[in-house]
Amino acid sequence: MFQGRSFLKEIDFTKKELNYLIGLTGHLKQLKKQNIPHEYLKGKNIALLFEKTSTRTRAAFTVAANDLGAHPEFLGKDDIQLGHKESTEDTAKILGSMFDGIEFRGFKQAVAEDLAKYSGVPVWNGLTDRWHPTQMIADFYTILEHFGKLEGLTLAYIGDGRNNVANSLLVTAAILGVNVRIVAPKKLQPTEEIQEIATVYAINSNVEIIVTDDIEAGVLGADVLYTDVWVSMGEEIDFKARIDDLLPYQINAELFAKTGKSETIILHCLPAFHDTKTKTGAQIAELYGLTELEITDEAFRSTSSLVFTQGENRMHSIKAIMAATLGNLYIPNVE
Ligand code: CP
Repeated sequence: MFQGRSFLKEIDFTKKELNYLIGLTGHLKQLKKQNIPHEYLKGKNIALLFEKTSTRTRAAFTVAANDLGAHPEFLGKDDIQLGHKESTEDTAKILGSMFDGIEFRGFKQAVAEDLAKYSGVPVWNGLTDRWHPTQMIADFYTILEHFGKLEGLTLAYIGDGRNNVANSLLVTAAILGVNVRIVAPKKLQPTEEIQEIATVYAINSNVEIIVTDDIEAGVLGADVLYTDVWVSMGEEIDFKARIDDLLPYQINAELFAKTGKSETIILHCLPAFHDTKTKTGAQIAELYGLTELEITDEAFRSTSSLVFTQGENRMHSIKAIMAATLGNLYIPNVE
């Protein structure tokens, strides 16, 4: 049922299948913690295609492939011909004849779709401008791990509501039965198309979707506060204007208090601009006088913040995705 399938976007899988991947994430995390071998991909070769930089996704695919007994091969944008001297179709056919699975991180969703179409092997979307599906398995596993349930919870994403993470959270939460709010200025709210996809699933799951620029209403009662960077990779925009638009949406103590709950958790897919200890962070401080952007250092380091557990869970969840779609393991009927 999972064998040979690609994971290009969240709607590629049913609610039960997504829940299976989330459950398998927990199982594989336990095997890893208890040093129990799980080489379900023994002898397989995995291509890791990265057009954009990455820490978590690259590290997670590499370690997960090694733990599963596979050999991962990193193919960066300057290492291969894709997009420069060779079409996606031709590259896909060659890689598919040599590798058993392909991870792709890049700009266009169409490239991920074409790699799957022409390679004949499972392709896993490690982030495109439209979706970030592997991130979702880690995120919802992290929520499940903390609360012991998903259904009935409320997740409020606050910040740039049109990026890949916001798109993916909106649709995945709707599929999984989690109430979801995108709290963003009107010009940074999800497209009608993305909202329509999510709405169909929300009706089926009987959950509420709210897209609003009203911060108080958006975060009140939220079990999960989630944010992401204000400028995504490859976006060329007026940075000052984006900061001015989003500064009221920063996760800080005041905004956290507006949830009305002390047990609310904070998630961020990372990397985060929470201090000036990076080149970009230092430049922002110098240019705009801000030492923190989408989340304050205090909120980032608070006991409510599970961002590093969430980051670790990228590895266990990517392992679950690869094992289910390519591994030699028994999977019960999941529909
Ligand atoms: N969250 C995430 O995709 O992190 P990286 O960009 O480091 O892979």
